[in-house]
Amino acid sequence: MAGVRRLGLAEALALGPGWRHACHALLYAPDPGMLFGRIPLRYAVLMQMRFDGRLGFPGGFVDSQDNTLEDGLNRELREELGEAVSAFSVERTDHRSSHVGARPRVVTHFYAKRLTLEQLEAVEAGAPRAKDHGLEVLGLVRVPLYTLRDGVGGLPAFLENSFIGTAREELLEALQDLGLLKSESVPGLKTPVHR
Ligand code: APR
Ligand code: MG
Repeated sequence: MAGVRRLGLAEALALGPGWRHACHALLYAPDPGMLFGRIPLRYAVLMQMRFDGRLGFPGGFVDSQDNTLEDGLNRELREELGEAVSAFSVERTDHRSSHVGARPRVVTHFYAKRLTLEQLEAVEAGAPRAKDHGLEVLGLVRVPLYTLRDGVGGLPAFLENSFIGTAREELLEALQDLGLLKSESVPGLKTPVHR
């Protein structure tokens, strides 16, 4: 994304009181399922359709009552995804990257958390009862990690959607760095920016 800069967490935390912090998380779990009985799903990776019609990760702005970034993130996850997130918590060690420049005086922090498939399915099942369901969150989606025989269906087509902020780059980087993707599964996939 034009004008976006990656920065370290220490630098981000030193930005000062004029800055707002937003935290978002990629939740994923190993998934042994097979599409059509022959295409391995590998992992279930959650994103959401946002109120603005774009895809993004659950999370949001940290507020002054939150003691830490992660307190704010876990509170936002409860509001957006419901009570099943109380079974785990996203920690500082799950932090992956921070960026500035997408919006003035907003710094965004991205996390990834590995769950069990049972935990992830409980989040999906409870999401319609979350406080923000139908408001800020229009629905959860799983990211297809495979590419169909036409070379487009699956992840390449999914990536043609509109994404909020740096969510698309964060998704691609996480899929590659966490080993969620077979490299040959996405022909022509370019290395994400902001490394
Ligand atoms: N990566 C980077 N930046 C992101 C990502 C992401 N994956 N997702 C969102 N952002 C940025 C966007 O710029 C977004 O506006 O962080 C900002 C805050 O995140 P949200 O999840 O939209 O914030 P939330 O606290 O959940 O609530 C939305 O914020 O912008 C207001 O009016 C809006 O009331 C609404 C509230
Ligand atoms: Mg949000």
